[in-house]
Order: sequence, then C-alpha cells, then structure tokens
Amino acid sequence: MYNVQIKGKIIEQVKDVAKEAGAFIRLQRQDFSPDKVETKGTHDYVSYVDKEAERLIVERLRKVLPEAGFLTEECTTVDDVQHEYVWVIDPLDGTTNFVHGLPPYCVAIALRKGREILLGVVYEVVNDELFWAYQGGGAYLGEQPIRVSNEQHLNDALLCFGFPYNVEAWSPVMQRIVRDFYGHCASIRNLGSAETELCYVACGRFDGYVESYLKPWDVAAGSIILQEAGGMVTDYQGGNQWMDGQQVLATNSVLHEELRQKLTLTF
Ligand code: IPD
Ligand code: CA
Ligand code: CA
Repeated sequence: MYNVQIKGKIIEQVKDVAKEAGAFIRLQRQDFSPDKVETKGTHDYVSYVDKEAERLIVERLRKVLPEAGFLTEECTTVDDVQHEYVWVIDPLDGTTNFVHGLPPYCVAIALRKGREILLGVVYEVVNDELFWAYQGGGAYLGEQPIRVSNEQHLNDALLCFGFPYNVEAWSPVMQRIVRDFYGHCASIRNLGSAETELCYVACGRFDGYVESYLKPWDVAAGSIILQEAGGMVTDYQGGNQWMDGQQVLATNSVLHEELRQKLTLTF
C-alpha cells in the first residue's frame, strides 16, 4: 500500500522537508562563525546547525510516516532501526564545506524498507538544486528528468574520489590513486559531500565516483537517485555491500567494470 502512496504523496512531502531544512541551513550560514564549530573526531566537524536541521527533519517526517524509524547521523533521535520503514538522514552532508562557506553541502533524506531504498531526496543548498527519485519513477533535478553520462572511455572520464576521514588507512591508497588516475582520465576531483557527488554522477557531471568508509546516511539518498538515472553503485568487488560495507563505486554503468578492475590493481 505504501509503495503506491510513496510514489505520489510522500515524495512531495519529503521534498518540502528537505527544502525547509535547506532554508534553515542557508539562513544560519549568513552569520556563522568558526567558534560555533565542535569536533566529533580528528578533522570531523559538527555544529548546532547539523543538529537543529536534523531535529526539524525528524519532527516533520514523523508526521509523514508515523510508524517509520530513524537512522540519523547526529543521533538527535534514538529510534528503533528495526522498523519495517526507516528514514535514513544526513541533515547536512558536507559540514567541512559549510563551516568554510564553500559549496557544495546538502540535506539528504532516504526511506528504506529492509535493505531496499524506496526514495531519496538530496537538496544542495548553495546552488538551490533539488535532486530526487523514487523506485521505478526515474530521477529528477527539480522538474527535469536526469540521466547519467554516456562516457565510454575511462581515459576521457571525469572522476571524483572521496577523501575519507580515516586518513591513516586511506592516505597511502590516495597516493596510488593519484599515481594511477591523474593524467590517465579527464581529471580527478573531490567536492566534500558524498551525497552531492553521487547526484553529480546521476546527472552526468561526473562519470564516476569512488569513496571508502562512508555511512548509510552518506549514500542512501544519492544512490537511488543515481540508479534511477541509469547509473550503477556497487562495492569494490561488484557486489551489493555498498550501503553498510563502507565501499562505494558509483558510475554511469558503462564504465563500471573497467573502472572497478583498474581500482583493484590500484588498491
Ligand atoms: C562527509 C562528506 C565527505 C566524506 C566524508 C563524510 P559530513 O559527511 O560526505 O565528502 O568524505 O566521509 O563523512 O561529515 O560532511 O556529513
Ligand atoms: Ca555525511
Ligand atoms: Ca552530516
């Protein structure tokens, strides 16, 4: 029953919630100062803006689907994630960008039923871009349908590589990535917001995106948007452990296997 409702009413409400949280974040940015930043781990920042945005989102979504649980980055709600339906929320993805006043940063909301993602909404605040998709319904940027790129050649692909917080483990890998990819594709980028980066693959701005150590709230919304736009997301073995398995390989589908094999040699 819900699947039918989700395709109509729920996605519209989630889009409104994401935009409302985005408007709050935009307003707070106007007089945001560095002394409002707290540290969660080494170089891992948070502020009242992340937490307040999350509270707002949770409060609104409780009314949308009262029986759903919550899995949220800032844990402002402790809710049983064993519910049949679970909202997966990153209230502000790209916090480091936000505190530096640098785009992009976004609000990301997904609805999960078991391991299946039913819908995803990513609202990139600075460019006022609303990406959204629901299972079987295609992917959109605002009102426009979006598709992944048709890039066929890795040598011409624009690739995005995440810089995870787990510096000790990833630093040597990053050096090998630069060695193997810099100069061997169109170029390499990092934007500092995993959800936005997935959406940029979905709309063809990037041809591929690779990142490790991500959490479900960093990828849930963007990955259904990518899949509905014709893209592919897997772990580094080509399997489906990308949501909780901390390995995300996202592409326009065409380049997936070639990129996966090249990465295997690099890692
Ligand atoms: C982070 C961003 C960043 C990625 C980190 C994430 P946050 O999320 O998505 O791009 O490299 O691993 O944790 O902390 O800004 O919500
Ligand atoms: Ca995040
Ligand atoms: Ca966050």
